[in-house]
Amino acid sequence: MPEQVLIFDTTLRDGEQSPGCSMNLEEKLEMARQLDRLGVDILEAGFPIASQGDFEAVQAVASEIRRPIIAALARASELDINRAGEALKGAARPRIHTFLATSDIHLKYKLRKTREEVLKQISWAVAHAKSLCDDVEFSPEDAGRTDRSYLIECCHAAVEAGATVLNLPDTVGYCLESEYEQMFADVKARVPGMERVALSTHTHDDLGLAVANTLAGIRGGARQVECTINGIGERAGNAALEEVVMAIRVRHDVLPVFTNIRAEELYPSSQLLARVTGMAVQRNKAVVGRNAFAHEAGIHQDGVLKNAITYEIMQPQTVGMPSNELVLGKHSGRHALAKRYEDLGYQLTKPELDRAYQVFCQLADRKKQVYDEDLIAIVSDGFANAPETFTLKLFQSVSSNEGRSTATLELEKDGRIYHDSATGEGPCDAAFRAIDRITGIPGTIVDFSVNTVGQGALGMAEAAIRARFQGREFTGKWSSQNVVEAAARAYLQAANRAAYELKRLAEAAAAAPKSVHTNAMVDRMFPGGY
Ligand code: KIV
Ligand code: ZN
Repeated sequence: MPEQVLIFDTTLRDGEQSPGCSMNLEEKLEMARQLDRLGVDILEAGFPIASQGDFEAVQAVASEIRRPIIAALARASELDINRAGEALKGAARPRIHTFLATSDIHLKYKLRKTREEVLKQISWAVAHAKSLCDDVEFSPEDAGRTDRSYLIECCHAAVEAGATVLNLPDTVGYCLESEYEQMFADVKARVPGMERVALSTHTHDDLGLAVANTLAGIRGGARQVECTINGIGERAGNAALEEVVMAIRVRHDVLPVFTNIRAEELYPSSQLLARVTGMAVQRNKAVVGRNAFAHEAGIHQDGVLKNAITYEIMQPQTVGMPSNELVLGKHSGRHALAKRYEDLGYQLTKPELDRAYQVFCQLADRKKQVYDEDLIAIVSDGFANAPETFTLKLFQSVSSNEGRSTATLELEKDGRIYHDSATGEGPCDAAFRAIDRITGIPGTIVDFSVNTVGQGALGMAEAAIRARFQGREFTGKWSSQNVVEAAARAYLQAANRAAYELKRLAEAAAAAPKSVHTNAMVDRMFPGGY
C-alpha cells in the first residue's frame, strides 16, 4: 500500500535566504496563496526573529492560509521560540520548527559548546516550544556530518521532549545518497519512540545531489520532505519541489509513495516565483524549464509527434506547461516543421510548406537552432519589411509601485492622428492595451523579453515580443533607452505586421508562392547574422 509523503515547502524561508530572492510581504502572500493551490502540506513562512518584516510575513500568512500547516523557524533559544510562537498565534495549524547544530565542527567552531551542553539545550528548547505549540519540529543542523551515535542521542532527547517531527538536514550538501539513506534507517531503527514521530529530509544542492538525496531519505523511511520551488535556497539551493514531486509520480513503480501535490500547478508556481523574485528559471531546468519538453533531434521530434511516450516520460500539460516546444534544428524534418507552424497558427499549403522548408534548411545549416521567431519570419517574407500601418507619434506612461499604470499613445495612420489611453498591470501592459484600442486588433503576449545592451543606467533596452493576433503569431523588436518605449514600439511592430498580413490575406485568397530561395534571400530575412 503506497504511503503519503508530506511536502514541506520552505520557499518563503530557506528559499528566501538565497541571494537575490528576497520578497516583500505582498509577494510572500501571493506566493503562499499559490503554494496553497499547489497543495503543499506544510508551508514554512519565515524566520520571525530575523526581522520585523519576517515576523509580519509569518503573521500574515498564518492568518490567511488556513489549510496547510504553517511553520515558523526558531533557533533553540527562548527569544527565538517565543517570537515564532507569537507570529503563529493566528494560525489554524501552527508548527514551531526549532534547530540546533549537532556536528562536532559546528559545536567546536560555531557554538563553542560541549556535546552535553547541546543535548541539554535540545531538551529544553523542544520542551519550551511544546509549551507554546503542540506541533514541534526539531532539526539537528548539519546532521549529515554529525557523529551517528551522538545524532541518535540528540534525536532521542528531542523525541523525549515532545518533538512531533525530526528533520535530518544535510545542511552543507555534503552527503552521498547511500549515506543519507543510511542515516534515516539508523535513526528510525535506533531512536526509541520513533513510531510517534515523522522523519523529514532537508537537503542542499552543493554537489548537485539535493533531489537524489531527498529520494534516498524517502527510501530510508522519511515521510516528509523539505523543498523549494525552482530549488532556490542557500548557496546552490535546496531540493527542487517540482523535481521531487515528479520523480515520485513518474517512478511510483520503484518508489511506493505518493504526494497530494496538484502537479498542474507546478509550472504556474515556478513562473510566479520567477516573476516575484526576478530570478529567471534556467532554460534546461528539469520539469519547469523552457527546454524541459523541447525536442531538437529530428528522430526525437518525429517520435514525439507519432507518440509522445517515445521520448517523453511526462507530459508538459501534466505540470501545467502550456504546450511542448519543438526547438527546430538542422536535424528536424518537414513533419515537425509543419506541426510547429500549425501550433503557431499557420496552416501552410503544400507549396508554402515546400518553400518554408527550403529556407528553413538553409537557415538551420548556418544557425544552430531555429526558434519560433525565425519560423514566423520565414513565412512572413512579404510582411517582414511590411509598411508601417500605424506610426508612433507620441507616447506617455505613468507608473507607480501601487495600483495600475497608465499609458497614452498617439498613432498616425494615413495622415490621421488617433490617440487613446489604457490602464494595465504595469506600464508595458498599459501601453500594449492602448495600442490595441487604437489598432482594433487586440493581441495576446506569447513571449516578451527585455535585455539591456551596454553598461549602466544609460544602456539601451532591447525588447522582443511575440504576440498572437487573430490566431497567428507575429514578432516585433525594438531598442530604446526607455524600457517602456522599447516594449511599446516592439509590440506596435508586431501589430503592424499582423495588420498588414491580415489585410493581405483578406485581399488575396492565394498569393503565388515563390519557389527558389537563395542564401541572399535568407540573409535579407535575417539581417545581422545568426
Ligand atoms: O539547512 C539547514 O540545516 C536548515 C535548518 C534550519 C533546517 O535550513
Ligand atoms: Zn537549509
